[in-house]
Amino acid sequence: MKEILDAILAGDTPKEAYAALPLPDSYRAVTVHKDEETMFEGMESRDKDPRQSLHVEDVPLPELGPGEALVAVMASAINYNTVWTSLFEPVSTFRFLEKYGRNSELTKRHDLPYHVVGSDLAGVVLRTGAGVNAWKPGDEVVAHCLSVELESADGHADTMLDPEQRIWGFETNFGGLAHLALVKSNQLMPKPAHLSWEEAASPGLVNSTAYRQLVSRNGAGMKQGDNVLIWGASGGLGSYATQFALAGGATPICVVSSEDKAQLCRDMGAELVIDRRAEDFRFWKDERTQDPREWNRFGKRIRELTGGEDVDIVFEHPGRETFGASVYVTRKGGTIVTCASTSGYMHEYDNRYLWMSLKRIVGSHFANYREAWEANRLVAKGKIHPTLSRTYALEDTGQAARDVHRNLHQGKVGVLCLAPEEGLGVRDAEMRARHIDAINRFRNV
Ligand SMILES: NC(=O)c1ccc[n+]([C@@H]2O[C@H](COP(=O)([O-])OP(=O)(O)OC[C@H]3O[C@@H](n4cnc5c(N)ncnc54)[C@H](OP(=O)(O)O)[C@@H]3O)[C@@H](O)[C@H]2O)c1
Repeated sequence: MKEILDAILAGDTPKEAYAALPLPDSYRAVTVHKDEETMFEGMESRDKDPRQSLHVEDVPLPELGPGEALVAVMASAINYNTVWTSLFEPVSTFRFLEKYGRNSELTKRHDLPYHVVGSDLAGVVLRTGAGVNAWKPGDEVVAHCLSVELESADGHADTMLDPEQRIWGFETNFGGLAHLALVKSNQLMPKPAHLSWEEAASPGLVNSTAYRQLVSRNGAGMKQGDNVLIWGASGGLGSYATQFALAGGATPICVVSSEDKAQLCRDMGAELVIDRRAEDFRFWKDERTQDPREWNRFGKRIRELTGGEDVDIVFEHPGRETFGASVYVTRKGGTIVTCASTSGYMHEYDNRYLWMSLKRIVGSHFANYREAWEANRLVAKGKIHPTLSRTYALEDTGQAARDVHRNLHQGKVGVLCLAPEEGLGVRDAEMRARHIDAINRFRNV
């Protein structure tokens, strides 16, 4: 690994030299173990500790298949899917690997007693498999996390509709929280030149998801002037949704749970912010009963902020706890677009407010290659910025995942993989200087 790292750190190693660098037989990776998948059985979700289930260990290098690329990972990031994997919730991700493994001789590689997790990376291509022409060893890249086989007609208008669509590093093995990662070459995108490795790695999954969910016609198709209610507006998804709303001429109404987070939203340029904790919104009277008076109070608060208007779009992901309120506060003809259910996936809402007011609920999941590319392009152009707050060493990934699980973080949490320190990998210092305040906005808040 040392030769590989030295070549990358030198910054001017000719691309041809990368193909000749020897590959190790094994590499350092963050894993969960199949024989531990019942370790948290019977425990409350909040008491399960990712530090116990996430291991950092050496694993064998997988064989490179056609259409694939092996990447030296300089940095990665924590996504909530790694939290789900580490808790073995709602199902153990070994079920995904077993199913994928049954597809073919090649996919069998993924079905192992360990799962290398992680769905973001920034790094350098080391090898490409047969049939890969667009990418070469030595290319500095980020990877999005859509893995598709595309053998069925179903996925050819929108690759998210491929029946063999998977999230890399969650539903497949050999993810990005490691020194090396195996991806399909159609996951690769150019690394934004003005960002360090850890900054470049951090937007990937959430930025692409928020782009499809909010901006793309496959999602809410946001337009200028829309009022957009954004739950968790300083979190992973929300910090990008807020930027997309502002950059697209919409008005975000940011919901957060502390003054620090509210300030971050204002720093991004949002003017309308609701601190759900300070204003003590309680949409549920008890575990089974919602409180429509609280939906009403929430709606009134939104109108107070907007000067009497309701929201055109709700950017949903907390799920059970907020969904009833989200459906209620959406304007007539508006859209509730959802990509997750962090607080519970059995949603309840009053359907009268949906059908009588002709509202739509749209399901959205990650992004196709084109959408991920467009989202990354906006980062590369300095129109959308990373929201990295803190970076951990690979050995401390368990702690990083725990922070995200306990909602102790802001924006994105990064992980250094091969990169020995933060701040490396910047290739366009002049552009960086122009955006430095925005790039650092979430740091150490
Ligand atoms: N389908 C997809 O492709 C996709 C992609 C990315 C993420 N996701 C899912 O989306 C969810 C959020 O991901 P993320 O990366 O944004 O996570 P995150 O960084 O933890 O941010 C989520 C934010 O939601 C807010 N929140 C949490 N629980 C809440 C509740 N009960 N009521 C209201 N707000 C709540 C919190 O903000 P405040 O405390 O400040 O309000 C938190 O900062 C996760 O479940 C993740 O698995 C799905």
